[in-house]
This record gives sequence, C-alpha cells and structure tokens, in this order.
Amino acid sequence: MKASVWIVDFGSQYTQLITRRIRELSRKSEILTIDTARTRLKGGERPGALILSGGPQSVFLDREDYSAFFSDATLPILGVCYGMQLMAQTSGGKVERGVQGEYGKSKIDVLASGFPKGQSTVWMSHSDHVIQLPEGYQVIARSENRLVAAMAHETLPRVGIQFHPEVHHSENGMQWLSWFLDGIAKVKQDWTEADRLKDLTAAVKTVNPKRVLCAFSGGVDSLVAATLVHRALPGRVRCIFVDNGLLREQDTGHLKMLQEKTELDIEWVDASELFLSRLSGVSDPEQKRKIIGNTFIDVLEDESRRIEKKDGTPFDYLLQGTIYPDVIESSSPHGVSGKSVTIKSHHNVGGLPERMKLALLEPLRFLFKDEVRELGRDLGLDSEWLHRHPFPGPGLAVRIMGDVTRARIDCLKRADSILMNELRSSGLYASTWQAFPVFLPVKTVGVKGDGRVVEEVIALRAVNSVDGMTATITEFPWSFLTSVASRIVNEVPGITRVVYDLTQKPPGTIEWE
Ligand code: XMP
Repeated sequence: MKASVWIVDFGSQYTQLITRRIRELSRKSEILTIDTARTRLKGGERPGALILSGGPQSVFLDREDYSAFFSDATLPILGVCYGMQLMAQTSGGKVERGVQGEYGKSKIDVLASGFPKGQSTVWMSHSDHVIQLPEGYQVIARSENRLVAAMAHETLPRVGIQFHPEVHHSENGMQWLSWFLDGIAKVKQDWTEADRLKDLTAAVKTVNPKRVLCAFSGGVDSLVAATLVHRALPGRVRCIFVDNGLLREQDTGHLKMLQEKTELDIEWVDASELFLSRLSGVSDPEQKRKIIGNTFIDVLEDESRRIEKKDGTPFDYLLQGTIYPDVIESSSPHGVSGKSVTIKSHHNVGGLPERMKLALLEPLRFLFKDEVRELGRDLGLDSEWLHRHPFPGPGLAVRIMGDVTRARIDCLKRADSILMNELRSSGLYASTWQAFPVFLPVKTVGVKGDGRVVEEVIALRAVNSVDGMTATITEFPWSFLTSVASRIVNEVPGITRVVYDLTQKPPGTIEWE
C-alpha cells in the first residue's frame, strides 16, 4: 500500500516522531530523503500530503533547489520548523537570522479562528525565524516573543508551524496535526495498528535473507525482532544466546522458559568462564565494556562458524533488535548527509557484521519501545515477556564497581532476586521503568549479632523514564525500601548497609558505569 503522507527528512531529531504521530492519526506515512521525494514528485507521483521536517541547517546556507516541492499549488504541505522557513523563503517571504533563539518550552498565542485555539505551551528549537510572510499567507500563531509561530495560506493547503507539534511536550500537538490532515489536506484514514505487522512482515520478505543469525538476549526487542522474522520466513532464523556469566537469576529462568515456550530456535552458549577470566583484575568501566563487547563477538563468531560448518548453510544476515531511540542516539538514520547530531552509542555487537561480512537486518529500527511492545502483542507474545525492565548488554559487570569477581556477582544476584521478589509482590514492578541493585566495594562498619563487622554496600537504583534518555527517581514508599533493605542485610552475606540513589538523569546516568 502506498503511503498517503510523505515526510521529507531535513535531518531533524524528531522526524520519526512525525511518522509515529501520523500513524496515531490513522494514516500511512513514509520518510523520504530530499532527493527521493524530489525525484518521485518530478516523476509525477503525488502523495495526499507532504510534510517538510525540521532540520539543523539554516536557509541562509542551504543553496539547494527545492522548487519541486512547491510547484503544484494544490499539493497540501505542512512545513515544520526548518520546513516552515523553507516554505516561507521559497514562496517569496523573508527569514531572518535570530540573535537569540527559542528553545524548549515556549508559550504561543493562537490568533485566527478555525485553528486549535487559545494560549498553549509548545516545544521550540530554532534560531532563524520568519520575519515577512509570503503573499497570501496569514499569521495564525505568535510566540511570547511576538515571532511568527504558525502561518497558513488563505486559500491554498499550505501551513507552516515553527514549533514541533510532534513532540510530547507540545500541548495540542496532535490537534495541530489532525487539523492539518483532516481540515486542510483532507487525507483519508488508511492505516490501523494491524497494518504494522503486515507492513513489517512484507518488508522482511522483500529483503528475503537466506539465513539469519540473531544475537538473542531474551529482552523485549530481540524477542520481538526474532519472532517477527521467524514468522515471516520460518526456519531461517537461528538465535544464539551468549551466557556471559553476568546474568541475574531472573534472566536464566526467563531464557529457559523462552526456549521451552516459543517457537524460536534458541541456542544457549555458556561462555561464562571466558568472559570472567578476561575480566579478571579489570576495574575501569570502559575497559570492562570493551572486553565484554569483543568477547561477545568472538563467541558469536565461533558459534556461528561451528553451525555453518555443521549444516553447510552460511548466514547472510545478522538480526538485531535495534529500535529508534538507539538509532537516533548514534547516527542520522535517513537523511540529508547525516546532519543530525550523534549523541551516544550502545551497540553490543557492533564489530560482528564487518568481520563476518554479514548484512544487518533491523526490522524494528523505526519503532519506539511502546510500539515494539504492541507489535509483540500482535504477534501473540506474552505480556509479561514484553514488559521486562531493560537490562544492559554488559550485564552485572557495569553494576559491580571495581573488579568483577564471582563472589561479587553472587552477592549482586542475591540482592537482585530480593528486590525483584519484593517489587513483584508489592505490585510495583510494572510501574517502574527500571530497578536494580549496585555492588559498592566500600567497607563500612556494622553490628551483626553481638559482633562488629566491616562489610560492603548495596545501592538500590530505580528510575522512571519514557525512553531511557532522561529519567526521574522512583519515589517508592518508604516501607517498601526499608523492607528490601532489611531483607538484603539479613539474607546477603557480606552486606551490612543499603543506600538509595537519589540522582536524576541528567546528570547521573541510569547505570552506574
Ligand atoms: P544509561 O546508563 O546510559 O542507560 O543512562 C540508559 C538505558 O540504557 C541501558 N544501557 C544499556 N543497554 N547496552 C544496552 O543494551 C549497554 O551497554 C547499555 N548501557 C546502558 C540502561 O540499562 C538504561 O535502560
């Protein structure tokens, strides 16, 4: 099915959020690079509406010819942020370089009737702004600084919005988008949630990998990705679960259960000795991560070679459960010459595809976590499997400060079991984004029985978050925290003190290392 809404990506960090909102408004949309959109328009294709995204560039430096987007006066266009400035400039208006930009939450006043009305708070991120409207346009909203916050053509289906209606923090953002789609562009509803599974299955079939190696962690993303590809192409996915010896009790139990209850072919490779011996004596966090990442690749490579040799069919694709927030943190996924900014990267099997000459299959790379969960639900996966807390690839190693030893792993596993047990029995697991203990190799004095002890510390960390990029501290009931602490000091040998981490992200990251 062809997309009714084309989103032209000018490199905004929020482009995928626009497609997501368009899906929520029941329309199928497609993100296109500038070149593709231009070529297709020139070739005579016509979408129901065109959305020009924001972008980091400035119209003053951009010398490209965008006239193809504006040549058909009846084609409905929404320009967002940079897209609006481009619309203004290309249609004969004037854009000015801002001395001071508008960033973050701002208030706007909606002036004209027939639009989402009144004063509201929106999310802005721009320095240039439209100072003179093109002919035929009117101002429909102004910012607190009296700058043009939205404009619309009086007769043609053209709208420019300087703020980001696609961002969660923009009040009435969805109304602005639906006002454009329903009221201005009049694009018919043509997408339902059920189409997501159909579309992704079709996309996997189009790639048509012969044999897929899946680095399987048992987490939500790899489980959904593996199930999706397996259902699309039965018998072609081989999941390898690498046991690095840095797992919690809940992980081993979960993996065994998935081996039994799902139709996936999951091979469990116990490489704990290798990982722990390579980690011996290493206390630097970055070095730990590097050792774990490289060892993971070594093990996966050895194992896949062994499988290929045994049954004679080579792997041609590596399947990863990469989701959109992972992509936006590490690179520009589409777009104009990679102009969106790199923030950070969490990839666990980064070096493997090059080493093994595998192509990457990342069917979830344009979805957000909650959409992955919905997809998992549509695939019939158990809700409990889809709502597990995230767990980092390097496992308990980044929750043990200093050297990683078997004794410390055991200690942390016990503390984790207690915390999980209490979270589940008190009904707090589902409402918490992530909760875990951290082992601190700090000797503190305590009294156990009648004797003085000098033992170590467990810190408890729990946060609420939407995407892991920012996080607030979970305000657990005091009685819950004290009962977890009391169980840990009583049941975990070597621990006499429990503390609770009260740091938001930023500035603290969620994991301690
Ligand atoms: P930070 O510590 O960066 O974590 O605030 C944000 C989210 O990412 C998880 N995390 C990782 N996940 N590999 C992963 O797959 C990693 O190396 C990694 N490091 C952190 C973390 O648990 C949190 O949910």
